Amino acid sequence: MSETVKISYGGKDFELPVIEGTENEKAIDIAKLRGLSGLITIDPGFKNTGSTTSSITFLDGEEGILRYRGYGIEELAEKSTFLEVAYLLIYGELPTQQQYEKFTREITYHTLVHEDIKKILDGFPSNSHPMGVLSSLICSLTAFYPGSLDPTRNEDAVNLSIVRLLAKMPTFAAWAYKNEVGHPVNYPDNSLDYCSNFLKMMFALPAEKYEVNPVVSKALDKLLILHADHEQNCSTSTVRMVGSSQASIYAAISAGINALWGPLHGGANQAVIEMLEAIKADGGDTKKFLNKAKDKDDPFRLMGFGHRVYKNFDPRAKIIKKAADDVLEAMGVHDPVLEIAKELEYAALNDQYFVDRKLYPNVDFYSGIIYRALGIPTDMFTVLFAMGRLPGWIAQWKEMRENGEPIGRPRQIYTGAQTRGYVSMNKRG
Ligand code: SDX
Repeated sequence: MSETVKISYGGKDFELPVIEGTENEKAIDIAKLRGLSGLITIDPGFKNTGSTTSSITFLDGEEGILRYRGYGIEELAEKSTFLEVAYLLIYGELPTQQQYEKFTREITYHTLVHEDIKKILDGFPSNSHPMGVLSSLICSLTAFYPGSLDPTRNEDAVNLSIVRLLAKMPTFAAWAYKNEVGHPVNYPDNSLDYCSNFLKMMFALPAEKYEVNPVVSKALDKLLILHADHEQNCSTSTVRMVGSSQASIYAAISAGINALWGPLHGGANQAVIEMLEAIKADGGDTKKFLNKAKDKDDPFRLMGFGHRVYKNFDPRAKIIKKAADDVLEAMGVHDPVLEIAKELEYAALNDQYFVDRKLYPNVDFYSGIIYRALGIPTDMFTVLFAMGRLPGWIAQWKEMRENGEPIGRPRQIYTGAQTRGYVSMNKRG
């Protein structure tokens, strides 16, 4: 017999079912609440509200656990590759050798984009933020592949859209960067692996021979794994919401890119580096900035700190912090902001304000330091976050579609003016 909760309201008693997940998480199913009691629930930011059940990613914010389809993030980051993790998230199981070879071959041979994309790219002035360019180019795929607009497409057509997204995302990301710096774009090199191909498209220059540094390519692959999914975060919920209206997958992913852009979400990795640079420029007084972050009258927040779900160390931050030391050492890079970041982390973790609010470094706190060491410019950091999160967005969109979930349409409590008659302009005060 499943559990229930009892609600007493308006002199009546109601019972609502409690559902339980495979990791013993429990939720009140309020599907019948309004019909039974006339009440709805309200929860700005959905801090206590689940939007769906999902079998893709599990995270335990108190214990600092993150698993993709049951596999711990620590093991995947150590032993897997980004495309293998992408397959796992999207199709639910680790691929066999044959499945993996087919998947990677299809992606490799879809990396080229229609030449008319350049006309769209040319419409963006240099210095356009690459996230805006990226979301536009992804959405433009609805024009080049209008079949994606048909919500009744079969599984093969959906899988082709999935391959196109994974294949063309690095090309679009690199082209968005080239547009920003005013350099000619590079075409994909199908002899290279996923990350090496991206790095070459991004950094190769006509006048020079570009060799991919394997340390950089491997570090990037690990970073993409660590960003690949994170259950119902802001951008993933956006993808699911847009997808629930049966808009094209390309439109849904484009919306997810825009949601990720905000500095409270994926844009934090850029904001962290800007914050660390500001602290360095100000003389490196981390205590001063910690006090600013605690001052309610000061809008300054410690970027890269805090999380809606993690009330313990973000397991990704732990892995990225270690990778930052390894990558910088391997590349012989000394970045003073890494020392400032470690000082800031130590001070915050020993400050009552942060301890009381369980504010720990999140995925964005150290990732920017590695991106910088890899030569990635600051406003491309969130683009790399989007590249990493793409398989997660796809997997969540696919699950929502396969579960036949209804269109997302929350209710509200109205607090505006009550009924009133129209007053002609010449009679208004
Ligand atoms: C990502 O959801 C995900 O899974 C996201 C993500 C993913 O993989 O998809 O993990 C990626 O977005 C990571 C988060 C990146 N954002 C930042 O680093 C920006 C800085 N962090 C904060 O803005 C904040 O912590 C959020 C947005 C991440 C979470 O905010 P919440 O859950 O809405 O919490 P809140 O704003 O209500 O804060 C609770 C308290 C408040 O103080 P009080 O009102 O209780 O006195 O903590 C304080 C806040 O002022 N607080 C901070 C703080 N974060 C929260 N104070 C100073 N610095 C901070 N960073």
